[in-house]
Amino acid sequence: MKTRNILFALTLAITALTACTGKSDEERFVDNLMSKMTIDEKLGQLNLPVTGDIVTGQAQSSNIAEQIRQGKVGGLFNLKGAAAIREVQRIAVEESRLGIPLLFGMDVIHGYETVFPIPLAVACTWDTQAAETMARVSAVEASADGICWTFSPMADVCQDARWGRISEGFGEDPCLSAAMAAAMVRGYQHPECSAGQQLENPATIMACLKHFACYGAPEGGMEYYNVELSRYRMFNDYFPPYRAAVEAGVGSVMASFNTLEGIPSTCNNWLLTELLREQWGFNGMVVADYTAVQELRDHGIAHDKHEAAVMAIKAGMDMDMVSEAFLLLKDKDMQQYVNQACRRILTAKYRLGLFDDPYRYCDTLRCKTDLYTAEHRQTARSVAQKSLVLLKNENNLLPLSKNTRIALIGPLADTRPNMSGTWSVAATPWRYKTLREGLQDAATDKNNVLYAKGCNLTYDPELEARATMFGREMRDTRTDKAMRDEALAIARKADVIVAAMGESSEYSGECTSRTNLDMPDAQHDLLVELRKLGKPIVLLNFSGRPVVLNWENENLPTILQVWFAGSETADAVADVLYGDCSPSGKLAVAFPRSVGQLPMSYRRFRTSRPMDEGRDEFSKFQSSYIDCRNTPLYPFGYGLSYTTFEYSPVTLSANRLNIDQQVKATLTVTNTGDCDADETVQLYIRAMVSNPVRPVKELRDWQRIHLGKGESRQVEFIIDKHMLGFYNADGVYETQPGEYRIMTGPDSQHLQYTSISVE
Ligand code: NOJ
Repeated sequence: MKTRNILFALTLAITALTACTGKSDEERFVDNLMSKMTIDEKLGQLNLPVTGDIVTGQAQSSNIAEQIRQGKVGGLFNLKGAAAIREVQRIAVEESRLGIPLLFGMDVIHGYETVFPIPLAVACTWDTQAAETMARVSAVEASADGICWTFSPMADVCQDARWGRISEGFGEDPCLSAAMAAAMVRGYQHPECSAGQQLENPATIMACLKHFACYGAPEGGMEYYNVELSRYRMFNDYFPPYRAAVEAGVGSVMASFNTLEGIPSTCNNWLLTELLREQWGFNGMVVADYTAVQELRDHGIAHDKHEAAVMAIKAGMDMDMVSEAFLLLKDKDMQQYVNQACRRILTAKYRLGLFDDPYRYCDTLRCKTDLYTAEHRQTARSVAQKSLVLLKNENNLLPLSKNTRIALIGPLADTRPNMSGTWSVAATPWRYKTLREGLQDAATDKNNVLYAKGCNLTYDPELEARATMFGREMRDTRTDKAMRDEALAIARKADVIVAAMGESSEYSGECTSRTNLDMPDAQHDLLVELRKLGKPIVLLNFSGRPVVLNWENENLPTILQVWFAGSETADAVADVLYGDCSPSGKLAVAFPRSVGQLPMSYRRFRTSRPMDEGRDEFSKFQSSYIDCRNTPLYPFGYGLSYTTFEYSPVTLSANRLNIDQQVKATLTVTNTGDCDADETVQLYIRAMVSNPVRPVKELRDWQRIHLGKGESRQVEFIIDKHMLGFYNADGVYETQPGEYRIMTGPDSQHLQYTSISVE
């Protein structure tokens, strides 16, 4: 209590002094506090250990408690529960010399106890409000339960589905990813009614943009591998989402594990200081990824832990996650860096209001009322509905009538822990419905939904164990034949087979790179057998990444991509399956025809020998594959609906534009089918002649609109200089005069266009 009073008195004194010095309250507070700190206490602020052995009610005796008392800890992460956090905060505030409160962080990636779809699926809504709402609900729940800092959003653009962490980002496109990343920062940090007053509301939490930079482009799609990119591509393809998050005011940034231009991000001065702070004006704190500081030794760039710490802090790193390497930085010549890092961390704590009230995030009442509420669940369910992508629907097999006799088959059909998806640390899976329960609740008679598991995830138990870590296991000990026979017998009794198959939760996520993206063997074989029954099959494809669905596309009438849609997956899938709402998701990343096409993007550069327009198959001496078509199986931006939409040609308010003017592009979209639905109208632009060479098309804007059955709507896009420009290799944005093609349509491959000339 004594130390709290000292901090409070300090706050009052500083407020009085501020008027005459010109320094802000925040600066004066931190100055004063730092003037009282020893070098060890400063180093302690830079130290971010993982929670260790803390158990509620016994935090006092945990291995970390003594370190906290000695002022050797700046924050902790992944400790769950307001009571446990309050207890640990009390040790910091009342039993350490200066009583400096701790930061409590967590990987709140796509929801807290109410879990939303994985971020890649949220990106498929193309609805930035949905992303903002997900972050807002996450912040309300996490802040009610002791957390003031989340390691999210992950804004790593990824064009390579082999990389398992593609599930945590917003897909292949920098423009869509930038909008989503900024929306999530707003959702976490801004109180609802007064954007701009970030973090003042205790129901907000500090966001952490990660992983800076280019973590999503490892060579070969292999986790933690080197990234090799030109600066031109970094600035145009990978940096925009990071920059958008910085512009949205993100409070912290996490450096990535990978090397870039031969330098690990953890000690990359160009990234952490020149670009992030000096060019982009970031003024928050930078944190290392898990043990990344000490791993500079493993990279072979530092001889020992001390040298690793020196390199990281000099590059602009402020907080050391888990390595405990910064505790070694006692050298005199390090003090300026230590002071700078300590100042940034204390400033973050100040901005979070922790010095006013160290317990403001562990309100033991809010944690009883604000978590997994009916309202939050309803919000998550509606985002989940919007995230599902209908890839194929021959003869309008979907939606099904609620009277249909369904055989629900597959390893994902009745598993509770696999619904929420990877990186759902705070999830409470025992409360979430399985798909089977969701469909049974929605059907007119629950006996209309028959069930058999049919097979394990794969024949290989070791692979299955890797793909079902962290309590997500689902392996059945019956023989493959027994499971298959049971499934075929059940399927024979039904009108329609609904196959819930694909990846388990942990088949994607951190360190889950794959070289083969086909449906896992046992599930593929089961699908082949089920197909022989001659009944219609709906594939509900679970995956945290694009997968290769060639066989499924050729042989099954209907495919609904369900990703991992969070705690409300089961109800949301039932809503779409039975037609209570139309699917409206559009792919934020293309599904390849072959792993060999990866990395791939619709934003490919123009080559000297492009394929003829509209041509997709091999052509000698033109950019093509001898054994595969060029296009993906399902392109970026693609997704079907239960209705159909007609697009009118696009018209421009002028055909020429002066570089500082704007032009309006207008088109009309009509719902020509049988139900109300949402459509995402997309705008792409191509520079016809440019130096340097630019992509064949780039997404520049979109609108998600709702159209009642038979309704038409005029959609307008404003085209300005910013939409036509690009970053040069120095990161300077420029727009060149010349001809531009303006393309609109329902996805990146089905576009109509007109031209504009820019002077
Ligand atoms: C490693 C991951 O790369 C990062 O995203 C995460 O925030 C940290 N671990 C902390 O759990």
